Amino acid sequence: MDRYVVAGNPVEHSQSPFIHAEFARQTGQVMEYGRLLWPLEGFEDSLRALVASGAKGCNITVPFKFEAARVATRLSARAALAQAANVLSFDAEGWRGDNTDGIGLVRDIEHNAGVLLRGQRVLLIGAGGAAAGVLGPLLLAGPAEVVVANRTLHKAQVLVDRHRSAAAGALLRASTLADVGEGFYVVVNATASSLQGGAIPVSHQVLRPGALALDMMYGPASQGFLDWAAEHGATGRDGLGMLVEQAGAAFALWRGVRPDTAPVLAALRARMAQGPR
Ligand code: ATR
Repeated sequence: MDRYVVAGNPVEHSQSPFIHAEFARQTGQVMEYGRLLWPLEGFEDSLRALVASGAKGCNITVPFKFEAARVATRLSARAALAQAANVLSFDAEGWRGDNTDGIGLVRDIEHNAGVLLRGQRVLLIGAGGAAAGVLGPLLLAGPAEVVVANRTLHKAQVLVDRHRSAAAGALLRASTLADVGEGFYVVVNATASSLQGGAIPVSHQVLRPGALALDMMYGPASQGFLDWAAEHGATGRDGLGMLVEQAGAAFALWRGVRPDTAPVLAALRARMAQGPR
């Protein structure tokens, strides 16, 4: 049977096995999808062992997405721009790396939340791996402006400089957290601030009335951001939709069939509401 895994560290709370099992059931694909905790050192050895075991591909999660892009034999254009890969496919020609995080985010915003990015002002907070994975596809959606704001300005500047050629007419600039400006229609939190008990990293002035404020995290880690959004007249959204959409795009790459993500997102929300498992 064709076999896939999600590999990361930590990985025990990953919802990807549930999501892919649902996709497989829905589309009638015969496959297995497991979960592997890999040691922090020796990523390439772990990957080699997985390939030798006959797996067809894997999802890569924290903290290995950068290493995955480095060791891939071929990279999609978006993974090359992100310098990070969350999907690997193994075939006779080697290890193909792709990144579906950004298209997952854009699809969640546009299709699931119903907010079109074209012509809008977008604020992306953070300049780490999570932000790097989504900036290219955000720009491709045709916003008027994208500001990348980060605690460490230099990292935002590096990310912005690398994406200049992908800006496709959008104004693209780096900013500190304090000098972001006001009135964005879409605000995406890609920082790890909440995990470290940090406050909301930007002033509520960044939110235009009726704005969409999306945190890439989900569960308790996103709650503070969602509460802040609601307090200031924005619509909060957690990262579960993005998670299901990036998985849907990975599934389509591997299996050549697009799953229907909506019922799987609903099932995942119901499952998460029942508490940790
Ligand atoms: P990830 O892969 O999840 O993006 P990362 O690469 O470590 O993880 O990046 C974490 C991001 O969260 C960075 O943008 C980081 O800001 P710095 O580049 O200045 O480190 C941001 N971050 C982490 N803790 C934060 C906090 N307390 N306040 C604001 N930003 C924070």
